Amino acid sequence: MTPERLDVEHALPRMQALASQLWSPQSRHHPGQLAWSAAYGEPHVLDLGPAFLLDTAWAWLESRDWLEVCGTDAAAVEAVVAAALAVADDEVTASTLETEDVTVAALTRAGFVEVDAPWFTHHHLDLADLPPVVLPEGYAVRAVRPGEAEQRAAVHRAAWSPTSRVTTAAYERLMTVAPYRTETDHVVVSESGEWVASCCVWLDPATGVALVEPVGCVEEHGGRGLAAAASVSALTAARDLGATEGLVCPRGDDDHPGPARLYRRIGFVPGARTRTYRWRRDG
Ligand SMILES: CC(C)(COP(=O)(O)OP(=O)(O)OC[C@H]1O[C@@H](n2cnc3c(N)ncnc32)[C@H](O)[C@@H]1OP(=O)(O)O)[C@@H](O)C(=O)NCCC(=O)NCCS
Repeated sequence: MTPERLDVEHALPRMQALASQLWSPQSRHHPGQLAWSAAYGEPHVLDLGPAFLLDTAWAWLESRDWLEVCGTDAAAVEAVVAAALAVADDEVTASTLETEDVTVAALTRAGFVEVDAPWFTHHHLDLADLPPVVLPEGYAVRAVRPGEAEQRAAVHRAAWSPTSRVTTAAYERLMTVAPYRTETDHVVVSESGEWVASCCVWLDPATGVALVEPVGCVEEHGGRGLAAAASVSALTAARDLGATEGLVCPRGDDDHPGPARLYRRIGFVPGARTRTYRWRRDG
């Protein structure tokens, strides 16, 4: 059982297909999260590592010291993890959902040990229960249009960080990566035309799961429900396109509790959390 080694650019459609096929509320990977992780910055900036694939599992060195794993066949998962570790840095961190027993067992057998680290809680929402969009006066919410990558990247950076790797060129490329679609990428615009909040939703048509990633609101317009409005609006568009379930994965630890509160206000319910493992060569 020798896994195939591929650049993530070429591996991504197969990685996404397996994640979609194995999807359940107990699994970590969604095709949209993989698209975002592989394309939120320009390739030379992200410095992504290779992926190792079998028909029933893959392991991806998102960077030489960060491993993502997908699969439910124990032997296949062990084989892809071993192939990735053979070319990884001497210290590698991996994050799984606590419910992914096969991945946790494979990591443990490979020598990974659990470590304390910031963690994330997957949240789920039956989209039949989505509330209406509520916007304060003076704002409008709408889908991004083709050709608006520059403004879209700028509103993301303004909310997250001026040094964010989400550049215009990166966003232009992201917009070509499946399952991205402008119809489910929403922005809040102020009366003066300033873009102030955003939410990108990724619909996996095979499972009907719509992932919220990422959400942002610029600080000067914060605390008015704009991030919530962008999220509900983009999720409503996803539901109109066939989505049945929403998914979002905010921080679960106490250091950054605001986003989880925001999603729970919308109606998202917490599910499984992530756990972090670390491996040292010969360690
Ligand atoms: C987290 C973030 C998206 C929140 O954006 P926001 O537009 O301020 O969010 P909201 O206005 O919907 O909610 C923020 C607070 O305002 C309050 N609020 C919302 N509407 C309100 C209203 N009409 N009147 C009074 N308060 C209101 C909410 O109750 C909430 O308070 P809480 O955090 O104590 O629960 C934004 O701060 C951000 O972009 N941060 C950096 C990026 C980030 O962390 N993104 C999320 C990662 S998953």
